[in-house]
Amino acid sequence: MRTQVGIIGAGPAGLLLSHLLHLRGISSVVLERRSRAHVEQRVRAGVLEQGTVDTLVAAGVGERLLREGLPHSGIELRYGGAAHRIAFDKLVPDRRITVYGQQEVVKDLIAARLAAGGDLRFEVPDVAVHGLGAEPHVSFGGERLDCEVIAGCDGFHGVSRPSIPEGVLTVYERDYPFAWLGVLARVPPSAGELIYARNERGFALHSMRSPALSRFYLQVPPDADAGDWPDERVWAELKARLETVPGFTLATGEIVEKGVAPMRSFVAEPMQYGRLYLAGDAAHIVPPTGAKGLNLAVADVRVLTEALAAFFATGSARLLDGYSAARLPRVWRAQHFSWWMTSLLHTFDDDDAYARRLQLSHLDYVTSSEAAAATLAENYVGMPW
Ligand code: FAD
Ligand code: PHB
Repeated sequence: MRTQVGIIGAGPAGLLLSHLLHLRGISSVVLERRSRAHVEQRVRAGVLEQGTVDTLVAAGVGERLLREGLPHSGIELRYGGAAHRIAFDKLVPDRRITVYGQQEVVKDLIAARLAAGGDLRFEVPDVAVHGLGAEPHVSFGGERLDCEVIAGCDGFHGVSRPSIPEGVLTVYERDYPFAWLGVLARVPPSAGELIYARNERGFALHSMRSPALSRFYLQVPPDADAGDWPDERVWAELKARLETVPGFTLATGEIVEKGVAPMRSFVAEPMQYGRLYLAGDAAHIVPPTGAKGLNLAVADVRVLTEALAAFFATGSARLLDGYSAARLPRVWRAQHFSWWMTSLLHTFDDDDAYARRLQLSHLDYVTSSEAAAATLAENYVGMPW
């Protein structure tokens, strides 16, 4: 079997790449380890930057997103018994974010690929990458896929990055001493906007998916088990961390999904080796506090698509050779922002009284200085693409 681009992973990065390449007349095959139902139901990100929305709309997969997505022009920072709005509409007037579940983006992309006769394979076992220098190919379940280029879009735990010979990549990473417990609940959002709450008990986030579905996150110990968090405990903790300002009551309801996600920062440089190009979480991870992971994956894929289009149209590998260098400045900007938001809002067990006062002082600065708030807003909504 032969194709131009062998894509490993049917997450947002792999699916969008396959779709954008199709629009340029470039063939691809997507190989995914999990089932279609699994990838369509995996509850993860929810915040799309303007550039991500624009990319999906321009690619013809934004119809449902424009209909069902929830545009937001601000977020709330809640701490010290008060609510502080970061007003994107005032600070970065032409840009906003849209709340739309990652699994909905995935469903829309799978539907578009299948409607166009795209070759997506689910539940593919034993994917391995070979011949990255001269003759790139992918083996899986006793079959062989020959390709001119391989795109490693298989997330942090995939096979692509580890197939790069030792000594090629420089890895930068940081683990955080906590995780997030995420829950999806069948209850209308208790506020119109996202609430990032810093609390002595730990961080909490109020988000949403639709007028009838709320999404919440709680800072929990790194080894936490969702099984130790029965619904009553989740609601009690969310109330303790979020019902801290006068007049705010958290609406509760049926919890339909629960999971623990580790918090990690990670970058592998360069994001390429031979004919293998890494995109999305395969190359870099950010803690979700800055809502940047999915958006970075989409931005990687946009740049990689342009480079591949030039390569297949003209034979010139100039843009492909420069792919990693083109992406890393923005990857590192998102790394800093995500680390900064995480440090600003979580409690750290080894923090002393001095560190806690510094954190509160910095929150006061961000919520009282227009310049500081504008920095947060510009990074949160994303730089212009
Ligand atoms: P993935 O979505 O991980 O997709 C990789 C795919 O490759 C998977 O389908 C996997 O099954 C497949 N795969 C893996 N190994 C193999 C193999 N060996 N063979 C074949 N297939 C394989 N980002 C935001 O921008 N905004 C947010 O609000 C946000 N919130 C988040 C909240 C949580 C709780 C979490 C966990 C993440 C959040 N993120 C957020 C991050 C975002 O979900 C990821 O950055 C995004 O999924 C990256 O997409 P990807 O396609 O690169 O990787
Ligand atoms: C989400 O709605 O899933 C979400 C929102 C904001 C974040 C992370 C996740 O920072």
